[in-house]
Amino acid sequence: MTEDRVRFQQYDSSAEVAAAAAGLILTAAAQAINERGRFNLVLAGGRTPIATYASLVGMPADWGRWHCFFGDERCLSRDDPERNSLAAARALFDWVPIPASHLHPIAAERGSAVAATAYQTTLATHLPFDLVLLGMGEDGHTASLFPGQVVPDGPLVMPVTQAPKPPPERVSMTPKALAATRTMLILVTGRDKALALAAWRAGHDLPVARVASLGSALVLVDRDAASGGGCPRSG
Ligand code: 6PG
Repeated sequence: MTEDRVRFQQYDSSAEVAAAAAGLILTAAAQAINERGRFNLVLAGGRTPIATYASLVGMPADWGRWHCFFGDERCLSRDDPERNSLAAARALFDWVPIPASHLHPIAAERGSAVAATAYQTTLATHLPFDLVLLGMGEDGHTASLFPGQVVPDGPLVMPVTQAPKPPPERVSMTPKALAATRTMLILVTGRDKALALAAWRAGHDLPVARVASLGSALVLVDRDAASGGGCPRSG
């Protein structure tokens, strides 16, 4: 049962979701570094996680042992403000001392097919992850895994060429890669996500539901996103 493996926690605001997510990430980092000497983190794209990244800035962490990857990337130039890697740099990397060699952006500016092949090689030597952070779109997509898309079983990374959310060309980790993690955290905030979240909790077969079930995800939602259906309150 999806509900058995996926836990939903509701917070009053998106700010509280961001603070809770930052705390969970820092805890996972300390545990991973203590046990294995490094923290392999997969960052989410889009707007939702930016507040979480900002909440990490200034917090005590062994940043030199963090390694950051991306669940997906848009096929835009590296300096395009819509790039997930640039958004993460502006919110986090520019403010904490993670070594540049530990930042693993997807070279999506090279085109989806070439970039997917290259990132497959990068990921093959870095699995499993310690924490995968994801968002959810209004249609229930996550990373760049969209409803109705054919997703191959084998690869860790796939090219996306007709994404309904612009830009159409993207690169995405597959469910196989996203599920190769010790912890999966999914952030869903805002009223625009309420219908998709309610559909997910009603058992609809959405990309985010499939990935969350594979990863036994913890889903942090705010009151606005949960307005379409109840979630256990947190705190
Ligand atoms: C992307 C993201 C995508 C995002 C959702 C939610 O590149 O667009 O990876 O999966 O997480 O679309 O986006 P928002 O957080 O901006 O609502």
